Amino acid sequence: TTQTRRRTIRDVTKGDVPGVWLTAYTAPVAQRLDPHVDVMLVGDSLGMVVYGLPSTVGVTMDMMIAHGAAVVRASHRALVVVDMPFGSYQESPAQAFRNAARIMAETGCGAVKLEGGTEMAETVRFLTQRGVPVCGHVGLMPQAVNTTGGFRTQGRDAQQAAKVRADAHAIAEAGAFAVVIEGTVEPVAREITTSLSVPTIGIGASVACDGQVLVVDDLIGAFGDFTPRFVRRYAEVGAMIDDAVARYADDVRHRRFPTDAQCFGTGR
Ligand code: KIV
Ligand code: NA
Repeated sequence: TTQTRRRTIRDVTKGDVPGVWLTAYTAPVAQRLDPHVDVMLVGDSLGMVVYGLPSTVGVTMDMMIAHGAAVVRASHRALVVVDMPFGSYQESPAQAFRNAARIMAETGCGAVKLEGGTEMAETVRFLTQRGVPVCGHVGLMPQAVNTTGGFRTQGRDAQQAAKVRADAHAIAEAGAFAVVIEGTVEPVAREITTSLSVPTIGIGASVACDGQVLVVDDLIGAFGDFTPRFVRRYAEVGAMIDDAVARYADDVRHRRFPTDAQCFGTGR
């Protein structure tokens, strides 16, 4: 489209074309993604991808705000959604509101995202009724790694399937404008998508969802050796960096860099 103004919640929740969401944590990446995506998610996955943490549990409000602000500054078209980090919203609706308001005020983002199902419905309602657009996140919930014991696919048995379904419905009914479904088997994601009044955004949750999200570093093969099964690698940027840096190192060691073309005032 020719639309140049910043997308709103309303823009990204209508239409039949699947929503294109990707993570962005930094200004240069946000600048490149902005023309192509509907939503940039400043995911708390940045704890693992950018900070080398073992999980998202150690991510702080200050980290999310610094990266959220960078992504908003470097974009003008995509809706920017910022993840609420572990510990910033689970205590009470009031705590969640205080931190969500800080994220929105200090980054300029258009919405926040938080993990949780039925237990977070009251909080989602509290926020959405007070001017904070909320995206839900159900199925595999990485912030709960220490209670769920790992990154396991959800919905494989009937009991799990019923839980993911109930979680998605509770969050949507509480006012979430969209619900991310992570690591959930296709029939469950499909059934939720069909029955929910708001769009579902899948990550490892099949093509049945209303939109898709991925960690952009996974999609471009930026760093790390592990590619989850639900990722398609569209580029091998990590290999390109290896090659570029190896050639630079070789050139420096053999005095092939710099040459006169990179120098000021050689006097020759
Ligand atoms: O933190 C994140 O990047 C996310 C998406 C993968 C959904 O929550
Ligand atoms: Na996240």
